[in-house]
Amino acid sequence: MKSFRSAVIGCGNISRRHTEALTESSRAELVAVCDIREDRAAAAGEKFGVPYYTDYRDVLAREDIDCIHICTPHYLHAPIAIAAFAAGKHVFTEKPMATTPEDAEAMIRAAEAAGKYLGVCFQNRYKFINAKLRELVLSGAYGKPVGGKGIVTWFRDPAYYTDSGWRGSFETEGGGVLINQSIHTLDLLIWTLGDPTAIRANCGIFSELLENVIEVEDTATAHLRFDNGATALFFASNAWKNNAAVQFEIQCENALLTATEDELIIAHADKRCERIVDTTPKTDDKSYWGNCHSIIIEDFYAAIAEDRPFAVDGKEGIRALHVIDGIYKASGFGPRA
Ligand SMILES: NC(=O)c1ccc[n+]([C@@H]2O[C@H](COP(=O)([O-])OP(=O)(O)OC[C@H]3O[C@@H](n4cnc5c(N)ncnc54)[C@H](O)[C@@H]3O)[C@@H](O)[C@H]2O)c1
Repeated sequence: MKSFRSAVIGCGNISRRHTEALTESSRAELVAVCDIREDRAAAAGEKFGVPYYTDYRDVLAREDIDCIHICTPHYLHAPIAIAAFAAGKHVFTEKPMATTPEDAEAMIRAAEAAGKYLGVCFQNRYKFINAKLRELVLSGAYGKPVGGKGIVTWFRDPAYYTDSGWRGSFETEGGGVLINQSIHTLDLLIWTLGDPTAIRANCGIFSELLENVIEVEDTATAHLRFDNGATALFFASNAWKNNAAVQFEIQCENALLTATEDELIIAHADKRCERIVDTTPKTDDKSYWGNCHSIIIEDFYAAIAEDRPFAVDGKEGIRALHVIDGIYKASGFGPRA
């Protein structure tokens, strides 16, 4: 029997990864869905045979619900999470956990006050190749890490922003390519190398196609320095021509470790090359979302059931937001510029 009863709030694009995960889960079951757009809420309710709601407060009022999954626009993550903790629910939220570090701090405090779990959907930390890369770097097997590189070059057309009603504005999205598309790669870099102590950056709207459409950055480039002397180069843009494979690599003293879509390449200083292949089954859509929602969601419920900390809690989720804030400040572009 499943131990947790869960609701998904926000029935847009990504919600299917959460509903799928709950359908597959051995621990949690989907018992309600909610969207302010009744057509979306009703379609999801019908698909999964559960009641639907158009006001999340009606979901929170249900005492039989243990946990909510937040799949709404970014600016709603903090208020919905804080209301959910006040109602005694656990919260698993899509990234970014909030639009500002201050809101994320408020979520962490609310979770602690309620004694409930807060999980943040950085599912790429659970991708076999990324986790293996980090494990090998931290093991010291290849010497100290001296550098990191993250490159995300994707394509988003004007309609992606204008049709959404929330993307493209600092108020509702919180930022652009940094806080939305490339936050996963930034998170992988700092998960592996630690939090940067100095940041140099440049952000802006580089694409002519998007310049009168969005106020957030479509392109960001940053140079991060870490306490141990390592540095990282980060480049993210939604102004490329396709959704290219993300590049994530760490240079250690004695080897370069590169994570590709499905293999980890270890290029040794002595020219030997090893390849570790990811055999995890692929999902059939949007490969850039990765295939790890089900894995992270199952681990979230396992952590609650086993009364152990969850690996991607609020304190982990906020780290990337601090770096993004630092990138904005260093570049002079951003919500507070
Ligand atoms: N983890 C990932 O790889 C990944 C991938 C894509 C999106 N996301 C994240 O998922 C979240 C949603 O993104 P999306 O692409 O599905 O957006 P979307 O616009 O397709 O869906 C958001 C849904 O929330 C609904 N909504 C808005 N206000 C609401 C409210 N007050 N109550 C209930 N529902 C409300 C909207 O009507 C819409 O259906 C974002 O945080 C996004 O960054 C994560």
